Amino acid sequence: MIEARGISHTFPGGVVALRGVDLTLRPGEAVALMGETGAGKSTLAQILAGLLRPSVGQVRWAGRPGPAGPWAPAGEGLRVAYLFQEAEHQLCEPTVWEDVAFGPRQLGLPGEVVQARVEEALALVGLDPEAIGGRSPFTLSGGEQRRAALAGLLATDPHVLILDEPTTGLDPAGAEGLIRLLHRLHREGMGLVVITHSLEEVAGWAERLLILHQGRLVVDEPLAQAVQRPEELARWGVEPPATLRLASRLRARGLPVPLGVTDPDALARAIAHLLDRGQAAPPVE
Ligand SMILES: Nc1ncnc2c1ncn2[C@@H]1O[C@H](COP(=O)(O)OP(=O)(O)OP(=O)(O)O)[C@@H](O)[C@H]1O
Ligand SMILES: [Mg+2]
Repeated sequence: MIEARGISHTFPGGVVALRGVDLTLRPGEAVALMGETGAGKSTLAQILAGLLRPSVGQVRWAGRPGPAGPWAPAGEGLRVAYLFQEAEHQLCEPTVWEDVAFGPRQLGLPGEVVQARVEEALALVGLDPEAIGGRSPFTLSGGEQRRAALAGLLATDPHVLILDEPTTGLDPAGAEGLIRLLHRLHREGMGLVVITHSLEEVAGWAERLLILHQGRLVVDEPLAQAVQRPEELARWGVEPPATLRLASRLRARGLPVPLGVTDPDALARAIAHLLDRGQAAPPVE
């Protein structure tokens, strides 16, 4: 569990990035962190990961004062990993294999376990250990670098994984694959904080939605509940998923489609059901 109390942060030079943020992340919870550019998302994420000390306020990791990084050995508190918005920031070893092995080695794991973890982590993110393991991380494409950095974090088996706009710049199949992986890690019990500009990416599976606006936490509630107020989300710069936009237009035309259905198949079933039962169909223009 991560508890942040009264967090404010002012950068040198006077930019106020966070103002009085209170937040508790429960074990194994999947949270989406959203908000406009410059709202303070990366700053908050780095504070939650113990990489940045807030100017004001306190963070506790599983009841202890931090910092607890990805390489804190078992029993020394919560292992929290952060995937940077610019993944190349966290690649520093001569080869991809060495880079992914860095974390498990820091944990003091024996050689065979390190090897198994590296291979498993590279496979999870869709990088072939044979083809890519021996290459310099700096020769990889942007998307491959992001995957390699994520593999390095997964190899440490974190309790909480915080990802800063992880799908930016990936092709659609790559983005979908990454989201499926996150969904799976969450089902297996990992806590996740996903910073994203796309509610669609997280709508099917994240349990909670946080929205920052000019450094203040303006929304903190179950995601399924928050998406029922698309107008408010839009006010904070969060675009409602297409399913919600469609549902609210259908409702405006008299078809009582439930709001808050984010799965396209479920929405299609709800519409078909209403039409079958002879409810008022929207006028055709
Ligand atoms: N190292 C820094 N020094 C000074 N100001 C900074 C620094 N990092 C961030 N800021 C400022 O703090 C504010 C919050 O930045 P932050 O990076 O947390 O925003 P963000 O919500 O992650 O935005 P984006 O969606 O663009 O990534 C911004 O006004 C930014 O200019
Ligand atoms: Mg950011």
